[in-house]
Amino acid sequence: MTMMIRKPILRILFAALLPTLAACGGRASIDIRHINNSHTELTLRADARYLLLPVEDGIPNAVVTVSADGLPDRTFRVALAQTRTDYTVPFDLAPYRGRTVTADVTNCAYDAVCWEQIAQSDRFRPAEEPHYRPYYHHAPAYGWMNDPNGMVWYDGEYHLFFQHNPYGSRWENMTWGHSVSRDLLRWEQLPNALEPDSLGAMFSGCCVIDRDNTAGFGRDAMIALYTAAGARQTQCLAYSTDRGRTFTKYAGNPVLTGDVPDFRDPKVFWHEPTARWIMVLAAGRNMEFYSSEDLKTWRFESRFGEGHGSHANVWECPDLFELPVDGDPADKRWVLLCSLGTESGSRVQYFVGRFDGHTFTNEAAPEAVKWMDFGRDHYATVTWSNVPDDRRIAIGWMSNWQYANDVPTVAFRNAATLPRELGLRTCEDGLRLVSAPCRELRTLLGDRKRQGPFVVETEYNTAALPTGSDGAYCIELGIGGISAEVFGFKLFNCNGEYVDCCFNRMDGTLTVDRAQSGKVGFSPAFAAAPPARLPAAENYRITLFADRGSIELFVNDGETVVTDLVFPSEPYNRMNIYAKGGEISVENLDFYKVTLK
Ligand code: FRU
Repeated sequence: MTMMIRKPILRILFAALLPTLAACGGRASIDIRHINNSHTELTLRADARYLLLPVEDGIPNAVVTVSADGLPDRTFRVALAQTRTDYTVPFDLAPYRGRTVTADVTNCAYDAVCWEQIAQSDRFRPAEEPHYRPYYHHAPAYGWMNDPNGMVWYDGEYHLFFQHNPYGSRWENMTWGHSVSRDLLRWEQLPNALEPDSLGAMFSGCCVIDRDNTAGFGRDAMIALYTAAGARQTQCLAYSTDRGRTFTKYAGNPVLTGDVPDFRDPKVFWHEPTARWIMVLAAGRNMEFYSSEDLKTWRFESRFGEGHGSHANVWECPDLFELPVDGDPADKRWVLLCSLGTESGSRVQYFVGRFDGHTFTNEAAPEAVKWMDFGRDHYATVTWSNVPDDRRIAIGWMSNWQYANDVPTVAFRNAATLPRELGLRTCEDGLRLVSAPCRELRTLLGDRKRQGPFVVETEYNTAALPTGSDGAYCIELGIGGISAEVFGFKLFNCNGEYVDCCFNRMDGTLTVDRAQSGKVGFSPAFAAAPPARLPAAENYRITLFADRGSIELFVNDGETVVTDLVFPSEPYNRMNIYAKGGEISVENLDFYKVTLK
């Protein structure tokens, strides 16, 4: 252990200058010894459930290694408070109960405020987030989240694992957080499912239900396949036989290694026609397909990517599934999802084609680039496996790598999109992947407040919308009788903040402009609003879901979707509908409060 090799001179010097802290109350058993000005050792008897660690958001991380006889060392990085405490995170002492634990802390000043505040406690209450904690989107109780992972339905529960930092609200210490829901909307966060280990951090992956016990961990075992990101990225397996409550890592990990540095995010499904498991994996700027009989031994099948779609960056977070075309079960196609960084940041492209158990064939022109969502905050989207009734439900990460670490929240950062039900629709430009709000969302809608119908020749300000202080609401807007060249609506509040959703029929674009939406200055990349493709139509049915900190716009049942974060100082509670170069007819304007009863 590091303790044995420390330089005695420094230790004595600092020990003499700064007497050991052995306080009373919650800190009774914490012994703090400063070894030099940035290296400290804590010793404690684990008497309580948690070691509470004070965090200062945005400063460099300290590195903490926790050791106890008979247990593997745990190392993590945490921005221990130097001058002020923004929030506190818990380190779980349950596995150490009754033992003597040492925590070796480097890169943290001896005079930091954290030393006064570190404490053992049986209770941990996440800090309140005053403004932008979503009301009906999944977000971690505290700490950071990025990609949704391991989504699987089992025994009445939707599982949503997620890329999580349990020790801070910025990307670090990748762990699989875990939440469950019976309706895709009300989430209960459970203890973390997968913690970093000697193979690396827990990067993205999936879960399947092994109905026929092909892997030998039991009938109906829930099996996670994930990337361990250490010196290299390898694919690993863990299984649960208690409905996802605890996972055991397979002793034979890793189950798949490769020779490209970016080799990650496995998505696995059972391919009935060839009676084998198929894994899709992001490998550099390609997707690779592997097959297996038992989820443990994988055989390379083929590679797809070169010359197809956008290659602005490495490909990430694949998914591959079959969908009926226009709802016809006799006519199906395979959809390949692919996340990647672009000029406007993180986006999800998709390909539609055939998959025969070995090879994916793109049916569209190779140079065609199809985006699943046109907003700035929709990434790493993948679908649930094992959902009853063949429903294909997706959820994404509602943020963007260009500014995800800087969004103006403190104790938690980032959330998931609303769950969306996917379909394939024949449109003028070929088969389009449509994403409609999942039908369960209807159950959250309160009484309908209707305005209209009315005609807009220039502009029309609606009556105040009863948004409540949480700004969680849904608007349905039906527009027809369109002679205007440009029309749209602004959602605004009394502080002059607004989002402008502009439908331009002249150039066939839909632009959601959030340059004046509230707090935008935290990142120069945030305000940009790249336009979406506007489907040519006689009528537009627009559904907008607003929550604290986000809007999701679905046009014509998910043919065009825009997901954007917004940080207004108070909810947008008015609407200005406008038309230029002609008029529009607002056939219905319906407003609903969103309530988690
Ligand atoms: C996508 C991603 C994945 C990776 C994970 C790490 O957002 O980069 O490719 O597994 O995040 O957190």
